[in-house]
Amino acid sequence: MKFQIISVFPSLFDSYLSQGVLSQALKKNLFQYQVLNPRDQSTDSYKSVDDRPFGGGDGMVMLPEVLEATMKKRTLKKDHVIYLSPQGKPLTDEKVNQLQAKVEMTLICGRYSGVDQRFLNEYVDEEISIGDYVLSGGELGALVLMDALVRKIPGSLGHLESAEKDSFALPGLEHPLFTRPQDWKGQKVPAILLSGNHALMEQWKINVSQLVTLKKRPDLLHLSAKEFQILKAFFNSMTDDEKRVCGLEDLK
Ligand SMILES: C[S@@+](CC[C@H](N)C(=O)[O-])C[C@H]1O[C@@H](n2cnc3c(N)ncnc32)[C@H](O)[C@@H]1O
Repeated sequence: MKFQIISVFPSLFDSYLSQGVLSQALKKNLFQYQVLNPRDQSTDSYKSVDDRPFGGGDGMVMLPEVLEATMKKRTLKKDHVIYLSPQGKPLTDEKVNQLQAKVEMTLICGRYSGVDQRFLNEYVDEEISIGDYVLSGGELGALVLMDALVRKIPGSLGHLESAEKDSFALPGLEHPLFTRPQDWKGQKVPAILLSGNHALMEQWKINVSQLVTLKKRPDLLHLSAKEFQILKAFFNSMTDDEKRVCGLEDLK
């Protein structure tokens, strides 16, 4: 996957992408990125990238000509052009899976009050939002999108399985996770996870992940009446301690 990012703050990308899973993926050449700074294309002595809005209003608007000059510096040939925007389609796991098919992407990060609409009309294929709130710039959105995409590239994580069994990919939410010690402050790891019985442990994880989904995001759980009865029977078979340690004590 190749990303070209248009941003007036290139160092934000180097900082995040030099750590953790993404830095490893970068070293393995599973993705590449380059940040193009619109300021480098500005022609006035102040290196301006924005100007006052016509019609009045607060803040400044990013200049279409400077952004166009920046777009012309990109080297991608078949890129999907995304503008990170609070007005865009919400970023979901489904959206991430769709975008997985795009090999080249240009990510445009707005700043100030936003970007001149005429530039968006001319160049942007899709607007994507990372949530119903307004950020100061599109850089966090671009990084969120890149992180979500790159961790799904086979070989990015230690075991691809980790991404396949993440929340939303299941579908639904992941089951609770436990590590050492087996007993922490009186909260004991469920016995089945210590049993060594692989089949039982896998079935337990499926059942508990459905219960977690039912509790936290019931909108994601789609069970038939029969499956629901089986899940209810499983829940009733759990001990109070097991329900508590899994964060399910208030599920009725
Ligand atoms: C202060 S915001 C501009 C918001 C704009 N005036 C509006 O009300 O729609 C500046 C830039 O941050 C980015 N941004 C803000 N919120 C975002 C969100 N929820 N998702 C993705 N990008 C966002 C966009 O690139 C936007 O151009």
